[in-house]
Amino acid sequence: MSAVPKGKLPLPELAAMKNRGDKIVMVTAYDAPGARFAEDAGVDVILVGDTAAMVVLGYEGTTVPVTMDEMVFLARTVARAARRPIVVGDMPFGSYQVSDEDAVRNAIRFFKEARTDAVKLEGAGPSLSRVRAIVGAGIPVMGHIGLTPQSATMLGGFKTQGKTADAARRLVDEALALEDAGCFSVVLEAVPATVAAEITGRLEVPTIGIGAGRECDGQVLVYHDLLGLTEGHLPRFVKRYANLSREIRDALEHYAQEVRGGVFPEDAHTYEMPADELAGFRQERPEREHQPH
Ligand code: KIV
Repeated sequence: MSAVPKGKLPLPELAAMKNRGDKIVMVTAYDAPGARFAEDAGVDVILVGDTAAMVVLGYEGTTVPVTMDEMVFLARTVARAARRPIVVGDMPFGSYQVSDEDAVRNAIRFFKEARTDAVKLEGAGPSLSRVRAIVGAGIPVMGHIGLTPQSATMLGGFKTQGKTADAARRLVDEALALEDAGCFSVVLEAVPATVAAEITGRLEVPTIGIGAGRECDGQVLVYHDLLGLTEGHLPRFVKRYANLSREIRDALEHYAQEVRGGVFPEDAHTYEMPADELAGFRQERPEREHQPH
């Protein structure tokens, strides 16, 4: 009997897609409607990203505050709704930095409580032993290098990584080390396209790019960014495929106007009772006794 639920995209299919040259489509989602929309659009991988901190939970410019409990709650919702796409739970800051044991314990929470198919964590270096430990526990791991938002302060902000020859070589080494540690895929964020192409050519596992050029084996964007739900400045690598925040604002303003103007609800949104019942209801209504104060 296969351990993969019926209809679920098998994890090894991602490597097969790389070999065939079929691009992998990944998007973030944080709730059931988002998961269903992604699935219906044929998305291969859904990441319940810790970007939830910014796009859902209202923290500004940082992913650090989101907690394990919050991520498990969101991931459980997405995993419940998504049948075919592989669902990846993003391990939040603090859930894997302290020790391998902690990392495995928290990865198990994603796997067991949220029922995600895999987890993602940021960095190489100290993260390599975490990857080995989690994979050793039987949980697939996606790596993430380049601009790793959890360490944005150490990186000097949300900046492109790997722009010098040394830094580019380090990224290649990190990617190879993550593959060697057992990652089934590696996200490359905000790195020059040439560096991403080199890494993609050298890894057997697929790379997923975000701001890493078109040579990656797949692409990921944040749901709220690509749909135009995020307002204000967006990184250069985001393409907006819709302007939903405008539509939402217009719809809410229209609703408020109609409520205030007595236009909504109309007859079409209102329930009536049969005329005879209404007559009876009015007749039988006892007169209110005058209550002295
Ligand atoms: O948390 C997230 O959404 C991510 C993607 C940007 C890759 O890590």
